[in-house]
Amino acid sequence: MSIEPEAAALPTRRVRFDYPADLQTAWNPRHPEYSFAANSVSLLMPHAEPYFVRVTRAALPELEPPLRAEADAYLRQEAQHHAQHRKFNDILVARSPGLQRLDRWMARAYGRVERRRSLRSNLAFAAASETIAYSLARWTERHAGQMFDGAEPVPSSLFMWHLAEEVEHKSAAFDVWRALDGSRRRYAAGAITSLVLLAIFTWLGTMVMLRDAGRLLRPMSHARLVVSGVSLAFTILPDLAVSARKHHHPSQFTDPILLSNWLHAYDPATGTLPVWST
Ligand SMILES: [Fe+2]
Ligand SMILES: [Fe+2]
Repeated sequence: MSIEPEAAALPTRRVRFDYPADLQTAWNPRHPEYSFAANSVSLLMPHAEPYFVRVTRAALPELEPPLRAEADAYLRQEAQHHAQHRKFNDILVARSPGLQRLDRWMARAYGRVERRRSLRSNLAFAAASETIAYSLARWTERHAGQMFDGAEPVPSSLFMWHLAEEVEHKSAAFDVWRALDGSRRRYAAGAITSLVLLAIFTWLGTMVMLRDAGRLLRPMSHARLVVSGVSLAFTILPDLAVSARKHHHPSQFTDPILLSNWLHAYDPATGTLPVWST
């Protein structure tokens, strides 16, 4: 089955996020541990996404024009994502200085993965990571109430904008990897590595922020995190298993409807989206 690249459907949105001056790492006051987990994923973005950008850019000369256009549009979206997360992360690190060391560990870990792998393996890693991002979006939309009810709207909107665009470009990295490689073995290895890095660093970041907020010894925080982690695993693992099958293409995955509809309300004149509310 041949599936056309989706370049025309990948706009570049330059969104502005103006955070309140007193923004706290626990921007979801009802469930601070969920903010901490989301913040930890945000900390990973300036390490993971530039890596995907570099490897995809390295592949561009080998791609046919329609796919090259899709890959190029994908790169522009990712560049916006990690730039916005960098600004948000600066606030997090200022509030919770223990995150600085973790940020260095993240840089080292992703740097090692990138250096030790061939271009094909790196493309497989990026493709599998994009499937994880799609799954994360699906899970977050379904659990938006627990994640964002009563939370600060600007960070909530940052995460939902990013996840909505992850859904939008769910096929791009996969198409690039399939054009240059297509090895399911490398895809599976990339998926495992990406998932392990995500799980370890999300856990570590969450623990640092729980400690700095004086909540490390609260059993309820840990119980909520375990329940959510298991629920998330039951979304991501089946999606990854399906995506590693021979004739799978990400376009066969259903888009989370609320996220996709919300993204259509983007106003290019002002660079704004309506504030996310659940
Ligand atoms: Fe992204
Ligand atoms: Fe992405």
